Amino acid sequence: MSSSAEDNANSKIYSQEALFELTAQNPDRYYLSIHENVYDVTEFLDEHPGGEEALKEYQIKDKGFKDATESFEDVGHSMDARDMMKKYQVGVLADKKEQKKVTSDHDRTQSQSEGLNFSFLVVPALLLAAVGIAYQLFVNRA
Ligand code: HEM
Repeated sequence: MSSSAEDNANSKIYSQEALFELTAQNPDRYYLSIHENVYDVTEFLDEHPGGEEALKEYQIKDKGFKDATESFEDVGHSMDARDMMKKYQVGVLADKKEQKKVTSDHDRTQSQSEGLNFSFLVVPALLLAAVGIAYQLFVNRA
């Protein structure tokens, strides 16, 4: 396979269904998911310094979806490892796009509520200041 074919494969978007179709059609290959990316680590099993079992444990097959992200991060993989894994990426999960949307919706809700909280503080502060001034005027006049 040429590297340009790999580049194309990197951007392939897999729905859960499409991913299960891929794994069903290639039962001998080891696919796993890390950070919502899909990797085919079949060629890497022998080379993995953490052993092939660590990778095999997270194989996506038979409609059983496992996410290897947490274990991958727990190990504290080096930058070299992260560079290396690009070579084995075959696509991204469709969820990744969904998640981005959810995150930005969440951010928006958060900033909206921050705006609300801010006005809640301003109104009583202004009221207090007005009462204070009125009191000063009242006392000075008396
Ligand atoms: C494509 C995915 C992966 C790649 C390219 C990869 C690559 C590597 C590399 C290069 C190392 C050597 C240490 C380092 O440079 O950080 C390593 C160590 C290790 N990996 Fe992975 N890894 C992958 C996925 C995983 C997964 C899913 C697990 C699951 C638990 C795992 C478990 C480990 C363990 C336990 C070690 C430590 C070995 C030791 O220090 O004795 N790796 N990996």
